[in-house]
Amino acid sequence: MTGRFITLEGGDGAGKTTQAELLTAWLEANGRSVVRTREPGGTDLGVRIREIVLHERGHVAPRAEALLYAADRAHHVETVVRPAVARGDVVLQDRYTDSSVAYQGVARGLGAAQIRSVSEWATDGLTPDLTVLLDLDVTEGRARVASARGDTFDRLESQAAAFHESVRRAFLDMARAEPERFLVVDAAAPADAVQQVVRAAVAPLVGIDVP
Ligand code: TYD
Repeated sequence: MTGRFITLEGGDGAGKTTQAELLTAWLEANGRSVVRTREPGGTDLGVRIREIVLHERGHVAPRAEALLYAADRAHHVETVVRPAVARGDVVLQDRYTDSSVAYQGVARGLGAAQIRSVSEWATDGLTPDLTVLLDLDVTEGRARVASARGDTFDRLESQAAAFHESVRRAFLDMARAEPERFLVVDAAAPADAVQQVVRAAVAPLVGIDVP
């Protein structure tokens, strides 16, 4: 079987985890081997990097933050993602380069093109076969996160609403620029309905008959 690399993107609270779990169950039920992973934190080294980027109390210089995400990604792609795709597995990953472009490149103002090029170097150019963008109104996403976690936000989640609006716009702009790679789904719809749309897009990629 041909290996596939599928990424899930979207703002906080858009439901990436729920969708990835539902998609994993369906792929496995159809006989595909799935590697569920995420960035930051998909490796032991990445877990330590994740701790720094999400929970460091002091100031982290924006360029240092961008390079930490890129370092996590470089190690993850070489040791987890590429080997799994080479084995013929389906890699289902929460967040990838597009998150760096949206959060560090656009919302933090470091420059979309530069951040993309840092990530492309880090990954030696590995591009997803499909990127599912779960698009959701920022206020709704933040309300979901707050109710799920009892109102505690990590460093990035506690940024101002304008930051998250700019992340959302950045993702939508990327999707518009690369329509053949992106599937944009309205994440305000019920989880089951979102999942049907996602499965319909994934099915032909993995050789499963459309549900
Ligand atoms: P994630 O683990 O997906 O958290 P959540 O479940 O809350 O969406 O991502 C953690 C945070 O890391 C999220 O706020 C987005 C941020 N992030 C970046 O800023 N740049 C990146 O390159 C990546 C991968 C994540």
